[in-house]
Amino acid sequence: MKKFKYSEITPEKIYHTRRSFIKSMGYGLGTLSLSSIPLINAKASNLNEPTSYQDITTYNNYYEFGTGKGDPHRRAKNFSTRPWSVKIEGEVEKSLELPIEEVLAIKSEERILKLRCVEGWSMVIPWLGFSLSELLNKVEIKPSAKFVEFETVYNPEEMVGQRYPVLNWPYIEGLRLDEAMHPLTTVVTGLYGKPLPNQNGAPLRIFIPWKYGFKSAKAIVKIRLTKNMPNTAWKNASPREYGFYSNVNPEVDHPRWSQATERVIGESILAPRIETLMFNGYGDEVAHLYSGMDLKKNY
Ligand code: MTE
Repeated sequence: MKKFKYSEITPEKIYHTRRSFIKSMGYGLGTLSLSSIPLINAKASNLNEPTSYQDITTYNNYYEFGTGKGDPHRRAKNFSTRPWSVKIEGEVEKSLELPIEEVLAIKSEERILKLRCVEGWSMVIPWLGFSLSELLNKVEIKPSAKFVEFETVYNPEEMVGQRYPVLNWPYIEGLRLDEAMHPLTTVVTGLYGKPLPNQNGAPLRIFIPWKYGFKSAKAIVKIRLTKNMPNTAWKNASPREYGFYSNVNPEVDHPRWSQATERVIGESILAPRIETLMFNGYGDEVAHLYSGMDLKKNY
């Protein structure tokens, strides 16, 4: 696998913006120190300021709590995230059930990464997290494993959206094993130096910055290594519109809208849309995963 350091992909501009916003926020970084935080940049040249905490935590997609952008913020307040555990199972020598406390004890770092939603908007989010490979390396993966499936909790009592057949619950997402092992594939434990808010996927979610936001499943309880391609929630709901790969690709339009540009959340509605970049701007790091593949067919 191609190796890179996060610091190598951080242009000066983001670095300086970041330092000043950290100062102005004045939030407690707990055990993290500024100098020890690897800097991962949003990489879209015209997008270099993190989105506000307010926007990141009130404009959400989380259909378990409703389909409106404000529903997760309003309805997830009392969602129970304890007790919680994460199972790693399937094509592994011995499955493992990790209490959430053990997962959260893994050292998180700040990763400023851009989220591009398939609906055509984007945000830059200062996540806290670590590479999913750290978790997967806790089990012995069998050579038969080719994919990784993520399963969101099923809790219709607390998640009102799960009482309606909007999607096939529980929410399932998945990656090819090499995509899952890529260092940019992140287990998210927080944002803006704070624990992850419920509406953003507490107690933990994944985040894959070069793919459309819906790949980044929230409130994960199971990570399953599989032989076959997982039957993911959106592909299952509408295979013509949503593929398994779902790499951000300005050249492959959604059947109902263009993917060439995006609206930056937090900017005035009069602000021009910005160009969408291949792999959401992370092509240098991830394009090799798809060499020889037709990304129009494998959308
Ligand atoms: N995960 C679950 N379990 N349910 C969802 O409805 N929505 C996805 C993704 N993860 C979703 C989910 C979509 S469409 C997007 S764009 C992102 O979460 C939004 O993440 P955010 O609300 O933290 O910005």
